[in-house]
Amino acid sequence: MPEPTPSAGAIPSPEADILAALGTRLVVLVGMMGAGKSTIGRRLAARLHLPFLDADAEIEAAAGMTIPEIFEIHGEPHFRDGEARVIARLLESGPAVLATGGGSFMREETRRRVNDKAISIWLKADADIIMRRVKRRADRPLLQTADPVATVGRLIDEREPVYRHADLTIASRDVPHEKIVEECIEALYGRLCGEVAPPEAAAGIMGGLR
Ligand code: S3P
Repeated sequence: MPEPTPSAGAIPSPEADILAALGTRLVVLVGMMGAGKSTIGRRLAARLHLPFLDADAEIEAAAGMTIPEIFEIHGEPHFRDGEARVIARLLESGPAVLATGGGSFMREETRRRVNDKAISIWLKADADIIMRRVKRRADRPLLQTADPVATVGRLIDEREPVYRHADLTIASRDVPHEKIVEECIEALYGRLCGEVAPPEAAAGIMGGLR
């Protein structure tokens, strides 16, 4: 008698194990502007068959204006309060993958909420990569300074000791996005399922910083 073919949903995979272990928690991406949180987050969500949420986009939708407009009209402290509220709301809507704005994890109450409701991944990028990526767009109010390179350096120095509190760290660099996504899957599997990813999933993984 032929073996019954398992249905697609029943095939064991690291993604399915991660989903089961996540429960209602989110995967939250933190890190500097230009680290690839939205790009990687969108692809990671697709791999995990989870909704993708972008905190910056949600803030703009809630405010009915762009982030540069919020900074210009209301100032950074107002933006930060709105950002903390929006992220608190989004953290109630798991499971999902959430990309956060680069400054949001600096707020202690946000870190606490992320810790309660999510597994966090710091996408760690160096200053050169960040500069190359952010100079393509002029929509980051914090970088509209006389010396954006110095500003990025200062922000990295201030923020990296805090980003280090994320549960997992993956090096964001100039490799295909799928490679970074694969490393996120491997790291999530290791963290949530208590094992290294099975060999078939590990093929092609570069081994992120953990
Ligand atoms: C900021 C990062 C931006 C946006 C705002 C402030 C920051 O988001 O929230 O311009 O403080 O680093 P991205 O990290 O998605 O660029």
